[in-house]
Amino acid sequence: MSVYDHGFLYGDGVYETLRVYQGTAFQIDEHIERLFRSAAMIDLSIPKSQGAIKRAVYATLKANRHKEAVVRITLSRGEGPTGLDPALCSSPTFVIMSHLLRPYPEKYYKRGVKIAIVKTRRNYDRALNPQIKSLNFLNNILAGIEARKEGAVEGIMLNYKNFIAEGTVSNVFLIRDGVLCTPAVRAGILDGITRGLIIECAKELHMKVKEGRFRKEDLVAADEVFISNTTMEVMPVSTINDTIISSRPGSITKKLHRTYRKKINEYIKEGGGKR
Ligand code: PDD
Repeated sequence: MSVYDHGFLYGDGVYETLRVYQGTAFQIDEHIERLFRSAAMIDLSIPKSQGAIKRAVYATLKANRHKEAVVRITLSRGEGPTGLDPALCSSPTFVIMSHLLRPYPEKYYKRGVKIAIVKTRRNYDRALNPQIKSLNFLNNILAGIEARKEGAVEGIMLNYKNFIAEGTVSNVFLIRDGVLCTPAVRAGILDGITRGLIIECAKELHMKVKEGRFRKEDLVAADEVFISNTTMEVMPVSTINDTIISSRPGSITKKLHRTYRKKINEYIKEGGGKR
């Protein structure tokens, strides 16, 4: 790749991360659709169809002989002289890569992880909308540095109005009196694909779901807390900064994770999104 690539020079681009189970790229259509939405939000048109991207993902997996893996699709503005004008780049750079899954330690799921509410705020949505899964990840990286200094696995950012937004690479959920609560997309978060499926699982389990505005106090006082993303699935939280969560991992969290895993198995069985 060129050192003049605007993805490298300016973080000008978008990406997706997918999880591959037994050779099947889970929820590939949803991920490709989000890639198109992210690209549209930065005024970047993708020179390939959804079908062509899907085929390229499977060709990559085949070439690498990867079955339990993570795929990353990266799309940048492309190569061009320095300067911010997208017109300087004549065609986008499109990269698909896969690597073998590096699973999170089993004890994370058995005992729960420590997360930290950090001082770094999530990008204001009218500055850089968190719904764009962009290559510009410094906001999240800075929050992650803070979290690691506290010995936490994930950092949770508040939005500019002091409401809980999301983790550096995850969405966050809390359970209070049996109700599944999670910040609404309008709180300024990435509309996680895993988050969407967890909400679907909860509804199937006849749980009440509340997407809304939550504060730090709601999170630390919750009965159960977990975080989610494509690679971690449902990860129970045991500690938030210095507060220990009462139920860790909680029974509802475990039930949701079991239901989520069932969805994965059904998807594989049905040859999900393969062709
Ligand atoms: N990150 N919020 C942020 C800021 C994220 O970066 C991610 C995912 C999520 C969860 O989205 P999903 O459920 O669609 O994975 C929420 C991926 C894993 C990454 O950065 O590679």
